[in-house]
Amino acid sequence: MLPPAEYDLGHHGDVDAAPGLVDLAVNVRGGTPPGWLADRLRDSVGELARYPDPGPAQKAVERRHGRPAAEVLLTAGAAEAFVLLARALRPRRAVVVHPQFTEPEAALRAAGHPVDRVVLDGDFTLDPARVPADADLVVVGNPTNPTSVLHPAETLAALAAPGRILVVDEAFADCVPGEPESLAGRRDTPGVLVLRSLTKTWGLAGLRAGYVLGPAEIIERLRAAQPLWAVSTPALVATEACCTPAALAEADTWARELKVRREELATALSALGLHVVPHARASFLLVRIDEGERVRLALRDAGYAVRQGATFPGLSPDWVRIAVRDRDTLTAFVRTLAQLLMAPS
Ligand SMILES: Cc1ncc(COP(=O)(O)O)c(C=O)c1O
Repeated sequence: MLPPAEYDLGHHGDVDAAPGLVDLAVNVRGGTPPGWLADRLRDSVGELARYPDPGPAQKAVERRHGRPAAEVLLTAGAAEAFVLLARALRPRRAVVVHPQFTEPEAALRAAGHPVDRVVLDGDFTLDPARVPADADLVVVGNPTNPTSVLHPAETLAALAAPGRILVVDEAFADCVPGEPESLAGRRDTPGVLVLRSLTKTWGLAGLRAGYVLGPAEIIERLRAAQPLWAVSTPALVATEACCTPAALAEADTWARELKVRREELATALSALGLHVVPHARASFLLVRIDEGERVRLALRDAGYAVRQGATFPGLSPDWVRIAVRDRDTLTAFVRTLAQLLMAPS
């Protein structure tokens, strides 16, 4: 295990996905944003002379998750929420469960908080007993980027405790039909903050839209740290639009198709003798490949970008993350990968 400084926490999949390559590195749903949403965003340009009014989007999120107003904070994506948390909270012992998205740890460190890591391995499932009892801030992803593992809601609930803030990053929650393990609507567990993002499912990485759900007193501290008008009018329009029953039904249909393609890809990669992290539930697979870095670079030369694993604490260059795309793209990708694996190194 490398010491903290040796993981490049600021590396993200968009760096791996150079222009011209078939992008299996970035986890945003292909073919997005959908036309109806792009139309809504274009229409919102007419409103830009006015300061943003968060009211309708705020109400839509409240309705969607069954939360009162005081338990919802709209943010400029999950990334802003991580920074607000790091700036507003004063943890005595912050623990980040890895491997996971690196920005929560980066934001905590940037705000001057030391961070302890709990590094999962094997099948990357979470045993709550691994988290130190005196941790008063714990960050976990569900489902987790890059492992694609979905932790049971009860496992996460077991991590919640009085005097502790448990941050559950649900940026990929809508990859799971019905979201059975989401804590977004759960108000009976103390200190749980749920972060949601519109980036992945709706293809809005460039817009910056998301929100935090949690106990009113913590939400109020985050709100006090947030700049005025942090969420733009187009982002508010998108947030409201993506909470409608029609949008939720569209996301659910996609999640069901995703499951089929993900299982096909996992089967094909396993047939090549590769280790695929089991029980994947998100829009990507984490795969271990001997000489993974050589294979990743050879894939690049062959026109494919996959996300390197080495920048995630707990992973080595032998790990790559592969986004689940449409069947034709994945069939061609697997064929290319098979040829590369057979080529002499
Ligand atoms: C697990 C996870 N959480 C949050 C984010 C950031 O989301 P947003 O675009 O809403 O800031 C990402 C982006 O890669 C992610 O992978």
